[in-house]
Amino acid sequence: MKEKLKNAAMAAMEKAYSPYSGFKVGAALLCDDGTIFTGCNIENSSFSPTICAERCAVAKAVSDGKTKFSAIAVCGGKDGILTDEPTTPCGVCRQVLSEFCSADFKIYLVTASDIKEFTLDRLLPFGFKL
Ligand code: THU
Repeated sequence: MKEKLKNAAMAAMEKAYSPYSGFKVGAALLCDDGTIFTGCNIENSSFSPTICAERCAVAKAVSDGKTKFSAIAVCGGKDGILTDEPTTPCGVCRQVLSEFCSADFKIYLVTASDIKEFTLDRLLPFGFKL
């Protein structure tokens, strides 16, 4: 499954719309029922409306009626070229994931040489909850 998510994230990264930063990001979100939703970063000339790949995938899934997720794969790089340094979800994306995902939700960070594995509670300790 890790490999399948990686491949889906890599394909999504190619769709990134990032003319301002040149940084392409792809994400593949695995639902509890086995469905995969992908996302890419979509930038904007006004900058703040930019949406990250992870939140793009979450928005696609939730708007399709899915709210239970078990894992996400993320990859990114300048001009879509991966390095050994992982692209990690930003703080806003971690918070958005925490809305729907449990502490043991898996986050696979795809690099040029491997897939680094984290859990949501490791990347977002003491996250905000109402
Ligand atoms: N980006 C993501 O898509 N996901 C993240 O979690 C980090 C940042 C995007 C936003 C922007 O288009 C580009 O990377 C450079 O910040």
